[in-house]
Amino acid sequence: MSKIGASIIRFSLQQRLQHGLLALSVLMLILTGFPIKYSTEAWAAYVIKLFGGFANLFLFHKIFAVLMIVSAAYHIVWLIWTFIKRGPSWEMIPTFQDFKDAIDHGKYLLGINKNPPQYGRYSYLEKFEYFAVIWGVIVMGFSGLLLWFPGMFYWLPRWAFGVTRVIHSNEAFVCMLAVFVGHFFHVHFNPKVFPSSMVWWNGKISAAHLKEEHPMEYQQLIASNPELRKIEEYESRWYRSKPLIYAELVVFLGLFVYLLYTFIPLFLQGII
Ligand code: HEM
Repeated sequence: MSKIGASIIRFSLQQRLQHGLLALSVLMLILTGFPIKYSTEAWAAYVIKLFGGFANLFLFHKIFAVLMIVSAAYHIVWLIWTFIKRGPSWEMIPTFQDFKDAIDHGKYLLGINKNPPQYGRYSYLEKFEYFAVIWGVIVMGFSGLLLWFPGMFYWLPRWAFGVTRVIHSNEAFVCMLAVFVGHFFHVHFNPKVFPSSMVWWNGKISAAHLKEEHPMEYQQLIASNPELRKIEEYESRWYRSKPLIYAELVVFLGLFVYLLYTFIPLFLQGII
């Protein structure tokens, strides 16, 4: 990790390229996948027209599916390459401390603990997100390929294709919520970084922001580079913006109520 002005490089160019490929492919898969699912709705007809018809939309879904598989392969090759070059890294592996951090974070949000947990290079949420992406890519990839090439899976019973379609469709919904609500809150809508953290773009995080978000990592860094102690106070200009905070509260609460309204009847249908 090197220092640039008052900033630290958090994401290398390699990591930004991998993130960019994954982001582009997943966003385009969401855009081209949901009009397939809701093809009779007016908004879906609009998107289908934008792509020049249903066949084209479906073709784009497959093209971006290939891109997603390429980005996963790229990540695996990069992991092997960094393992050979630098040896093993355990930074992403969840530990007992992460479970403790999750509980402490909950207590902090409820006002029981006065201070938030002190994270190292990756917080428990970031580790969780990483493994959720691995899970999502495996589930969406295998289910999608089975639906794409049913002839290769002729030995499967007929019902397996129906089940796979339900899995692909529902996991797509989970994936969309995880990206637009969970991930986007973390890196875009959180008033501390609004409108966007720049790590995905230029790889940089200010030393002051790092101190606030990853204090354990910051402590390790200043031990080897005392110059990093000279930091300006960090505060996003949106951090105390009441209109932004209230607008986000309304949007997220609205979404939460809408999801309850949609899923509770579905859930009850299953047990009554
Ligand atoms: C390697 C990755 C993927 C492949 C090969 C793939 C392939 C496919 C195929 C072949 C279909 C048509 C299924 C049918 O016959 O009804 C489909 C539908 C769909 N895909 Fe994907 N897909 C992939 C990833 C994704 C991702 C990441 C998302 C969104 C997060 C997504 C969202 C959808 C949705 C919503 C549908 C419509 C499902 C329905 O009709 O209920 N796909 N995909």
